Amino acid sequence: MNWNKREITERLCAGDSAGLFAEAAAVREREHGREVHLRALLEFGNHCRADCLYCGLRRGNRAVDRFALMPDQIREIAADAVRAGFRTLVLQSGEEAAQGPGFIVRVLHDLRGSSDAAITLSAGEWPSAAYASWFAAGAGRYLLKFETSNAALYSRLRPGRRLQERLGCLRALRKAGYQVGTGFMVGLPGQTIADLAEDLILLQRLDPDMAGIGPFIPHPGTPLAGSRRADGKRRGYPLEQSARTIDCDTGELTLRCVALARLMNPLCHLPATTALGVSLLHGWQKALDAGANVIMLDVTPRRYRRLYDIYPGRPDPQDDTLEALRHRHVRLLRDWGYEVAATRGDSLRGMPPRAFEHTSTRTA
Ligand code: 5AD
Ligand code: SF4
Repeated sequence: MNWNKREITERLCAGDSAGLFAEAAAVREREHGREVHLRALLEFGNHCRADCLYCGLRRGNRAVDRFALMPDQIREIAADAVRAGFRTLVLQSGEEAAQGPGFIVRVLHDLRGSSDAAITLSAGEWPSAAYASWFAAGAGRYLLKFETSNAALYSRLRPGRRLQERLGCLRALRKAGYQVGTGFMVGLPGQTIADLAEDLILLQRLDPDMAGIGPFIPHPGTPLAGSRRADGKRRGYPLEQSARTIDCDTGELTLRCVALARLMNPLCHLPATTALGVSLLHGWQKALDAGANVIMLDVTPRRYRRLYDIYPGRPDPQDDTLEALRHRHVRLLRDWGYEVAATRGDSLRGMPPRAFEHTSTRTA
């Protein structure tokens, strides 16, 4: 689907979204069937040198108890996740030198050969050489959201950082051979519906293998603590207000973005994000019904998980084992009419059309 900004904006603002969700579900069904990929998410450290205004782990938040798992702890949890049936392990951390290039290579060497599970990394912005060394050490996928396509808003919310640098990292990742995931947040202070239309256009242009779209959730320990939560009731949005800051239901708006992302990127893996599950009742099920096809389950040990406090309200499952956690979700998905995929859930885009490189020549 090749829509222009106005057409996308109209769909984001429409009084009703049932038709949009049905269309997106049909494309999901055609390209991915009713299969959902379950990924295991391990948060291996919460130190971060960045100071993103929206995130509870920002450097400036002194109230955070910082932790870092050791390579042998990571190896044990990874083995446990694989035994429980997960076929993708997502290793996520803040952006931190001590858990940076050398440490990650060590972890990957430790994990190498232990299973055929895919390893996804999500550890922020690093030089191309670091990305290349991790790819060589066995990581095949990388997640790096562009967060917002509005360059001014981006730099306001991420002091000292520039959107162009982030896009440069995405290009470097693609060049290194990774299956690349990106994405953005919905309802950031100062963000407009028109910005979301641009986010969706950028997403289509980047042509990623995976895209996470989640609502912004204010964190009490950040400068954005006081930003208003959307009221959760208002739905339609007057088109003439599309240039004003978003103040409607971000849960519903996020679902619309997911549905549009599905229509604009039919093959892309789209998770029902944790943040959407937090901010919207039955958020995961609604996201799947609007075109999503991936769910990430947190396998971080509970005592560390509560310290990985990016935003408040994240679920705190109390299952005794990772197997119990996985099976509970297999059953849930069945109840919702979905099946858990038996494959690793690699990219369906076919590798490697170098879309990020094309983007770079177009924007240069
Ligand atoms: N609300 C929602 N999502 C957030 N993220 C960070 N802070 C928040 C928040 N307050 C997301 C960003 C980041 C990922 C690790 O978490 O998109 O890339
Ligand atoms: Fe660090 Fe990521 Fe949080 Fe920014 S969003 S402060 S880079 S953990």
